[in-house]
Amino acid sequence: MANVVVVGSQWGDEGKGKIVDWLSERADVVVRFHGGHNAGHTLVIDGVSYKLALLPSGLVQGKLSVIGNGVVVDPHHFVQEMEKLRGQGVTITPEILRVADNAPLILSLHRELDGIREDANSGLRIGTTRRGIGPAYEDKVGRRAIRLVDLSEPDTLMPKIERLLTHHNALRRGMGLAEISAEAIYTELTSISDQILPFMDQVWRVLDAKRREGARILFEGAQGALLDNDHGTYPFVTSSNTVSGQAAAGSGLGPTALDYVLGITKAYTTRVGEGPFPCELDDEIGQHLATVGREVGVNTGRARRCGWFDAVLVRQTVKTSGITGIALTKLDVLDGLKEIKVCVGYELDGSRIDYLPASMGAQARVKPLYETLEGWSGTTAGARSWAELPAQAVKYVRYIEELIGAPVALLSTSPERADTILVVDPFQD
Ligand code: GDP
Ligand code: IMO
Ligand code: MG
Repeated sequence: MANVVVVGSQWGDEGKGKIVDWLSERADVVVRFHGGHNAGHTLVIDGVSYKLALLPSGLVQGKLSVIGNGVVVDPHHFVQEMEKLRGQGVTITPEILRVADNAPLILSLHRELDGIREDANSGLRIGTTRRGIGPAYEDKVGRRAIRLVDLSEPDTLMPKIERLLTHHNALRRGMGLAEISAEAIYTELTSISDQILPFMDQVWRVLDAKRREGARILFEGAQGALLDNDHGTYPFVTSSNTVSGQAAAGSGLGPTALDYVLGITKAYTTRVGEGPFPCELDDEIGQHLATVGREVGVNTGRARRCGWFDAVLVRQTVKTSGITGIALTKLDVLDGLKEIKVCVGYELDGSRIDYLPASMGAQARVKPLYETLEGWSGTTAGARSWAELPAQAVKYVRYIEELIGAPVALLSTSPERADTILVVDPFQD
C-alpha cells in the first residue's frame, strides 16, 4: 500500500479538494502539510458544496485529519471553519482532528501587515489573500513565532509575545502605525486557547504510529507548484514550499513515507493574483473558460485569470515535485470549443526554450508557442468512463501526457465527487 501526496501542478485551484475528497474514501489519514487558510478547496457531494480553507478535506468523509507543523494556523479561523462545517452536518471532534503542537500561529498583526503591504502598492503587489500567511511564515523563519504549544503554557506566553512585539513594533513605528500592546495579543490568544488546545497533538508521533499500523496516508497539498517559494514565479508566490517534498518536512514523517505523487492538473490554466502568465487570454476564449469553468476565487471572490494549457510549466512541475501521475480536471470546460491550443515551448528574446526561466524579467517576456488541436462537439461533462469520451478529447489527454511526461491516473469531468474516472489507483501503484 502506498502513501499518496496530492499537489497542485499549476497556480492553485486545480481541483485538489475534489480529488482529495474522492481519494479519502481509500485513505485512513488526510494531512495538510503547508499553507494555511489561504487555500480554498471545494468539494461537491450530491449537489451539496463544502468549502475548506484550513481544515483537511478528509474530514467530510470522517477520516482522521491532521494539520501538520508546516501549516500556519489562525486559531480564530480554525474555530470558525469548524463551526461552519459542523453547521453542514460534518462531525468534528479531537478524535478525528489533530493539530501539530509545533505549528506556528497566525495573529491579527499578521493579517493587518499583509493588508497594509498589499495596499502600499509599491509597484510589486502580489495580490495575496490578505490572511497573514506571509508575515506568519516570516516570524516562523525569524524564530520569534508563537506556536500552538505556547498556548498550553500561559505562564511563559507573555515573554514570548514581548519578544515578537520587539520586532513588530519597530516595524510599525517605521510605518507610522500605532504600537501593539502585549496584553492585547495575550487576550487575543487566551480567549481562544480553550477551543483549539483539545485538538493539539504530537503529529509526527501520530503519523509514525499510523504508518507502522499500515494505514494509508494521503497528503493534501495547497496552492500549486508555481506558487512555491523556491520553484514558483518568485516573488509572485506564496510563502511556503508547495512542492511535494514539503509533505515530509511539514508533517514530520520522513521522505521515505512518500510513495506516489499525484499532480492535480487543470485541462487549461488559471491564476489568481498578480504575476506572469504566458498563456493568459484576454479575449472571448479566456472569458469563455472563466464563465464555463466558474473561475472565481473560493476565499476572496476574485476573478481568476484564464488561459490555454501550458505544457512547459506542468512539465517543469512534474520534475520539481517528482510527479508520478496526474489527475486531469475540468476537461469538460473545453467541451464545444472548435479548436484548442496547447503551449509547447516559449520564445525568449528570439530563441526557443522549453522551461520557465528563473528571472522575473524573463518570465514576463516569454511568449508562448502553441500547437493547435481539433476540439470536440460531443460532451465529456459528467462522463464516468473512458469509453464515454469523444475521440478528440482522448487525443487531447494523450497529447498532454506525452508533453508533460506523466500519465493520467484520474480524470475529473465535473465538480461532483462521483464524476471521476479512475485509470490507475495511486494507493495501489
Ligand atoms: P482547489 O483549490 O485545487 O481545491 O480547487 P478549487 O476548489 O479552488 O477550484 C476548483 C473548482 O473547480 C471548484 O469549484 C470545483 O468544484 C471545480 N471542479 C473540480 N473538478 C472539476 C471538473 O472536473 N469539472 C468542473 N467543471 N469543475 C470542477
Ligand atoms: P488553493 O489551495 C490559488 C495566491 C494568491 C497570491 C499568492 C500569495 O485553493 O489552490 P498568500 O495569501 O498565499 O500570501 O498569496 O498566492 N494563492 C492562491 N492562488 N489558489 C490558492 O490555494 C492560493 N493560495 C494563495 O492569490 O497570488
Ligand atoms: Mg482553491
